[in-house]
Amino acid sequence: MTEPTRAPYAGTRPPRLADQSPGFLARIGQGWAERDIPAPVTRAAARAAADHRARLSDRLPDRTVVLAAGRAPRRNGDADYAFRADSDFLWATSCQVEGAVLVLTPRPGGHDAVLYLPAPARPGERDFHASATHGELWVGPSAGLAAWSAALDLPVRPIGDLGDLAAPHDGPPDDLRAVLSDLRMIKDDWEIGQLREAVDHTVTGFAAVADEIPRAVAEGLGERWLQGTFDRHARTFGNGPGYSTIVGSGEHAPILHWVRCDGPVLPGETLLLDMGVEAHSLYTADVTRTIPVGGTFTPAQRQVHDLVEAAHRAGMERVRPGVTYTDFHFAAMEVLARGLHDWGLLPVSVDEALAPEGQQHRRYLVCGIGHHLGLDVHDCGSSSYERYQGAPLRPGMVLTVEPGLYFHAHDATLPPELRGIGVRLEDDLLVTDTGHEVLSGALPIDATGLEKWAAR
Ligand code: GLY
Ligand code: MN
Repeated sequence: MTEPTRAPYAGTRPPRLADQSPGFLARIGQGWAERDIPAPVTRAAARAAADHRARLSDRLPDRTVVLAAGRAPRRNGDADYAFRADSDFLWATSCQVEGAVLVLTPRPGGHDAVLYLPAPARPGERDFHASATHGELWVGPSAGLAAWSAALDLPVRPIGDLGDLAAPHDGPPDDLRAVLSDLRMIKDDWEIGQLREAVDHTVTGFAAVADEIPRAVAEGLGERWLQGTFDRHARTFGNGPGYSTIVGSGEHAPILHWVRCDGPVLPGETLLLDMGVEAHSLYTADVTRTIPVGGTFTPAQRQVHDLVEAAHRAGMERVRPGVTYTDFHFAAMEVLARGLHDWGLLPVSVDEALAPEGQQHRRYLVCGIGHHLGLDVHDCGSSSYERYQGAPLRPGMVLTVEPGLYFHAHDATLPPELRGIGVRLEDDLLVTDTGHEVLSGALPIDATGLEKWAAR
C-alpha cells in the first residue's frame, strides 16, 4: 500500500512497505552517533558573499530582494539532473543548498539579510530515511542551520518560516537580474582567484585530452572519448565542465556548439576543443584551441589558423580599461574581413563588408567575438546593451576573446581546400589597471606553438 497524497514527498520515492512497519520505524530512527557536519564554504567565500550583499544593498536601498537557489530540473520520472545553484543567489551567498532562499529586507542604512534553508532530516525524522531528495540515507549528510549560520555569519532560519515570501520559481524579476548582472561584471580578488583556478585546471585538462588523441584515433573511440576525458578531468578537479564540452573533429569543427561529439577523430583533420572547468565555487573557464590531429597543420589549415591568430591578437590588444567593450570585437572582425577579402571570399569591398548594412564576412562566423565570464560561461547576460556592449572596459572585468572562422564542408562559396576547416582561438582575459592579463596564456596561440604543445 502507498499513501497517494503526501505532498512533501511528491516526486520522490513513495513510502514502501518498510516505511509502514512499526518495527522498522522504531529501528531506523535511533542508534546513530552524533556528528558535526561543517558547512561546505570557506571563510574567504563567505566574506566575498557578504561583500556582494553589501554592494547589492547599496544599489537597491529601499527594495526587498528575494533570491532563490532553485531546484534541480527533472530528468524523467522521479530522477533529477544534478543540482546547480542559481548564479545570482550563489554570488550573494556562496551557498549551494538546493531550495535555499535569501531575503534582504530594507532598514535604515542597509538591509537585514536572512537565509532560509531546508533543515537536514536527522535520525528520528521521517525524511531521514524516506526522502530521496534530501534524506541523509539517500544523498549523504548535510550541514545544519547553525553550521551554515556560523560559516556565513548570517541569521539562518528553516525554509518553512519563509511563509508568504516564497521565492518565485522562475527567478527574480528582469530588472533585479539586470542589476545583479551589472554588479557581477566587476570581479573582486576572491572571484579572480576562483577564475584563475578554473583556468589552470582547464589548461591541464587540455593536456589530458591531447594525451588521449592517439588512443582516440587508434582505437576509433572518436570525439566522445575526448569529451569524456575532459569531463572526467573537470569533475575530478572542479565541480565539472562549466558548459557542454565541445570537441569537433574535421567537418564538425566549424559547427559552433558541436556537443553531440559522435564523430570519429581522424589523422589529417583539425580538432577544435572548446572546454572549461567549473571550479568548486562554480566560477568557470572557457577556452578554445584548434590543433592538428596528426601533429602538423596542412597548409590550408595553417592559413586559416594564422588569420584567426591575427584577429585574436588584434582583439586582445584592444582589451584595456576605458576602451569600449565592442572595440575588441570590431578590431578582430576587421582583420578577418580583410583576410577573407584577400582570399577572394567577399563579394564586396572590405569597407562595404564592415559597414553595418554589409557584414557579408559574418557568413563565416555568425557568433560574437567574446563575452563576460564568471559564474556563468556567458556571464552578466541580463545586463543592458548600454552597460555591457556599449560600456567602457573596467579593471576587474573578466572576458573571453574568441574569434574564429567556420568553413563548412557543404559551403559552395569556398574553394575545395578550405571546406571543412573550423578554427577558433579563445582566451580568458582579466582587465587590469593598465591593460589585461591573459589568464589562459599557458596555452600557445600560434600554429607552430600549438604543434609543439600537442607533441610535447
Ligand atoms: N564556449 C562556449 C561559448 O562561448 O559559447
Ligand atoms: Mn566562449
